[in-house]
Parts: sequence; structure tokens; C-alpha cells
Amino acid sequence: MIERPRRLRQSAAMRALVAETRLHPRELVLPVFVAEGLDEPRPITSMPGVVQHSRDSLVQLSHRAVAAGLGGLMLFGVPEHKDATGSGALDPDGILNRSLGVVREAVGDELVVMADTCLDEFTDHGHCGLLDARGRVDNDATNEVYAAMAVAQARAGAHVVAPSGMMDGQVGVIRTALDGEGLHDTVVLAYAAKYSSAFYGPFREAVQSSLQGDRRTYQQNPANIVESVREIDLDIEQGADIIMVKPAMAYLDVVAAAAARSSVPVAAYQVSGEYSMIQAAAGHGWIDGRAAALESLHAIRRAGAQIVLTYFALDCAGWLAGEH
Ligand code: PBG
Repeated sequence: MIERPRRLRQSAAMRALVAETRLHPRELVLPVFVAEGLDEPRPITSMPGVVQHSRDSLVQLSHRAVAAGLGGLMLFGVPEHKDATGSGALDPDGILNRSLGVVREAVGDELVVMADTCLDEFTDHGHCGLLDARGRVDNDATNEVYAAMAVAQARAGAHVVAPSGMMDGQVGVIRTALDGEGLHDTVVLAYAAKYSSAFYGPFREAVQSSLQGDRRTYQQNPANIVESVREIDLDIEQGADIIMVKPAMAYLDVVAAAAARSSVPVAAYQVSGEYSMIQAAAGHGWIDGRAAALESLHAIRRAGAQIVLTYFALDCAGWLAGEH
């Protein structure tokens, strides 16, 4: 007698019955760019289908995200003026803080509003932190700014602050600052294992990054995984409520290791380059974009991520709604 695993693949209904992972809009988070001074949304050339939002289009998008039943929105701000200390990040009238208020007013508590807690969109040198006299990123001085930024974001309306700068100790400093202001309910989603990745390429266009050089002194080396385990443990010890691995597709082993180890929910970020590769190939007719996107999202869930940040979130919710 031969074993017949194919028995469980004989029909769509049978396959659905025994599927080990399922996608649901509630576990998808859409990253959103909002730029200062726009009247109309502006397309991002290297991310077909993604735009920088104006205030009005941001409100419309927020309502669509609620109607689609998404889990949340992750906001990135693109300021008109940048400076050495990224002061726009702390200003309650800065583009990101203002937009958090706009989104929160539109969605209330219907979905989770998240803020990128990092300085790279706001600094003229494009680094994620402050620079010292020798031009190196000053870890501890940067943490002080992250703490103030997180408080400003929480006050502006963010349910979740998401430190993505990979400074040592950032999660603990942010948690202490939030608690010190009575912001006990603000959730910290820590980019725990974040690699220095070429897959962030299109994001740099999306936020009009002015970075010269690279982030290899603070983001992780793609060659390593043991280091991720350490970063994850440290972030959980410091009070992270959710941890994240980023990028996703090329780091599914890291996602799996995080899921096996973590006592808090694990998220993974399918980054700009992952999105753009699928869109570019699909645009040429070389792959089926929808099938490839769904396959990639299933793979990220299968590896153990409970929450997925993806630029496909709204499309995916639409595909799932049409699927019977
Ligand atoms: C840093 C940040 C980056 C991304 C998210 N947060 C850029 C970087 O680290 O260089 C990349 C996201 C993407 O590529 O989709 N604020």
C-alpha cells in the first residue's frame, strides 16, 4: 500500500479544510506614507500602486482600511524640511504627529494606529539618530530623542509606537518615558531583528531619504541569526509588547526562530523591495502578482509571524473577501 498525501489535495474545499495557515485582514498592517505640503497623492515610482498621501487622501485611506477590516496602519511622515537633529519628529505640528491625529480621528479604535519611531525621515543626513562630533551615530543621545518622540506620538493619537532605529536600549528608554507620562496603554512594537538590507531601496524614494552611506553600524549583518536571538531577548526584557523581524521573505528562518522563542506576539515586515520585486515582475507579465503576493504572505505566516506588515494589505483584504 502506498501512502497517499494527495488525498487531502483533491478539491479546493478539501485543501481549505486542512490548510495549516490562513490569512485574515485583521493580522495585516498597511504601511502608509504621508508627505507635508501635498494637495494630491504623489505616486512612488519604484513602488507601483503605492503613493505618498496628502491629508485628504490619508483620511479616505483610513476609512478604506477600516472597511476592509485591516489590523492597523503604520504611519511614516515625510517632512518638507529636514535638519541635523530631526526636530520635525518632536513637533506636535510635524507631519507625522499631525497625521497620527488625523488618522486617529478618522478611525477611533476601529483599527490600530501605529507610528514609526525613528529619525531618518526627519534628519538632513538621513541617519536614524543624532550624530556626534565625529559624525558617528550617538546611541544614548538618540535614545533620549526617541523617548520624547514616542511620547509626542502617543499624545498625537498613536496606539502603538514602533522604534525602528536599532539603538541599544531604545525599548527600555521609550517604555520608561511613556510610563513616566502616564501613557501606560501605549504599546511598544519593537523592530527587534532588523537587518541592513538592500530590500529597503524603494522605501528610500518613498520617504525622500537623504542618506549617504549605509546603516551597518546599527542595523544587523544579513549573515547572522544568533545576533537576532540576542536582540529579541533584549527587547522583550526591556518591555517590548510585540517584536518584529524585518525584512520578511529573505529572513524566514529568523521569523521562525523568533516565533519559537518569543513570549510576545511576533510581527514580520514585508518591506518595500519585496513588494516592488513582485510588482515589477507582475507588471512585465512574468509572474502572477496576486498569486505571488498571497504565496509570500502565507509563507511569512507559516514561518510563525502572527502579524504581517505589507504594502499588499488592502489588496490582500480585497482578494480574501472575493475568495469563496
Ligand atoms: C527606518 C525604516 C526603514 C524602513 C522602515 N523603517 C528604512 C531603513 O531602515 O533604511 C524600511 C521599510 C521598507 O523598506 O518598506 N525608519
